Amino acid sequence: MEHNEQADAPPFSHAPLPAEQDDGAADDWTRDDADSMAVDSYHSGALAEHAAEAVDAAPPAPSAEVVKEVQSSFQSLELKPSAGTHEDAQMVVDEEEETKRHLNVVFIGHVDAGKSTAGGQILFLSGQVDDRTIQKYEKEAKDKSRESWYMAYIMDTNEEERLKGKTVEVGRAHFETENTRFTILDAPGHKSYVPNMISGASQADIGVLVISARKGEFETGYERGGQTREHVLLAKTLGVAKLIVVINKMDEPTVQWSKERYDEIEGKMVPFLKSSGYNVKKDVQFLPISGLCGTNMKTRMDKSICSWWDGPCLFEVLDHIEVPLRDPNGPVRMPIIDKYKDMGTIVMGKLESGTIREGDSLFVMPNKSNVKVIGISLDEKKVRRAGPAENVRVKLSGIEEEDIMAGFVLSSIANHVGAFTEFNAQLQILELLDNAIFTAGYKAVLHIHSVVEECEIVDLIEEVDMKKKNEIDPKKKKPGRKPLFVKNGAVVVCRIQVNNLICIEKFSDFPQLGRFTLRTEGKTVAVGKVVDVPPIGSTKFSA
Ligand code: GTP
Ligand code: MG
Repeated sequence: MEHNEQADAPPFSHAPLPAEQDDGAADDWTRDDADSMAVDSYHSGALAEHAAEAVDAAPPAPSAEVVKEVQSSFQSLELKPSAGTHEDAQMVVDEEEETKRHLNVVFIGHVDAGKSTAGGQILFLSGQVDDRTIQKYEKEAKDKSRESWYMAYIMDTNEEERLKGKTVEVGRAHFETENTRFTILDAPGHKSYVPNMISGASQADIGVLVISARKGEFETGYERGGQTREHVLLAKTLGVAKLIVVINKMDEPTVQWSKERYDEIEGKMVPFLKSSGYNVKKDVQFLPISGLCGTNMKTRMDKSICSWWDGPCLFEVLDHIEVPLRDPNGPVRMPIIDKYKDMGTIVMGKLESGTIREGDSLFVMPNKSNVKVIGISLDEKKVRRAGPAENVRVKLSGIEEEDIMAGFVLSSIANHVGAFTEFNAQLQILELLDNAIFTAGYKAVLHIHSVVEECEIVDLIEEVDMKKKNEIDPKKKKPGRKPLFVKNGAVVVCRIQVNNLICIEKFSDFPQLGRFTLRTEGKTVAVGKVVDVPPIGSTKFSA
């Protein structure tokens, strides 16, 4: 991308905070200083007007030129342009959209592992940040006594993040490789901001797990309570199908591209990744990088830097990664992350299944509000339709912004998503707070797609012996032992209740809307999947 285009179409924005973390800080989506050329951000609180302007600023599609071009190429082929040039133009836009796949990649890992630095370096290497801006960040970082953080400043845009050198909100940026358009989601590593990490990871298909190889840093991130472990478990539960594990800071004086250090970290990570549910051979790839120096990122590294690495660089791995295909013809499911007003109501989220087209009639669930799609934009570009796995903004008529909440789901009318106040789940208990026992009456915060809701465990149905069985099959067998309570590490089927209707699906039908985490007092205590929901038409199971 040309640098001077960036003021119009900033590659970067910030994902909103889930309700419990919203600090109502200032919105800087529309800043037009040098920063906003590379970087843009907003908070959910003041999202409305500013993000609206961004949508307005997007080039209209199709442009008059495109229409003309279509007509003239039709004429030169001696084909009659069909009555609807509108349709022809749409065809062009659609074809354009299909030339490159789109993937969301979330950067996760312990605090200070180098996620923002690596993300910033990617933007720099892909030509989206010029030298002058880097120099400006170098100076700013130096003034804040954070010299080495200048690359992270590309992703960390607000003052608090820059002062403390810690990401708070999920940074969002776009870049492209040969075959793929990527949205980078730069999650915070600090344990206070895990809810934000959850919101980032729940939008991603693939994860880059950043691990610091620096002496002592790998160890702190990996030990119990370190976010390397928590993030991996959360990523797996939230549907991050593939992980690229980058062993970062390989340039650092305590590491100096040591093969022993690299092997040691990989050796410790492999069993842990396996125990977290990843198939390491199929779904995980390791590679060494230096995010700060940009080594082994866009191009393969020079043997003079690291003689023992023969493998690919990060851009290659990202470009070739295979992710499960989603069904463009499936029912529409788009969990709403945020909403705002702009001559209509705009909702944002990731389209998990189906295709949304301008003119479509849809439901906003759980309220079954009948809405019409009057505009769609991808990144900052207006389009006529969006397919699965895209991050989209959809302009709706027929509903007021006040009548929508984060966690609602934009859904097709036929075969719409269900809405319930209770469900059965298979839970894996990770780590309960000191002395807590997990029993009926246990209360926690449920995070499922973009929903954040208080919940209560109302019944423990069955403890699962994982040695005997990996999956619960309700039809096949008589129930196992019904426990009164369970401890850390247990796998249990239980019934969970919430106060408000939530839109969820059975994991086996629709994993993206059927997996969740439970958190208490800022800690992830369990991960789980929905195994059963009340029958159609009911919000609860009958007694
Ligand atoms: P949080 O957002 O707080 O979780 O941190 P982060 O993972 O985004 O880390 P960040 O990019 O802010 O970097 C933290 C520190 O590590 C900064 O001082 C970086 O300069 C340093 N760092 C990051 N990558 C590298 C690297 O490849 N080599 C060296 N030597 N230092 C690095
Ligand atoms: Mg960061």
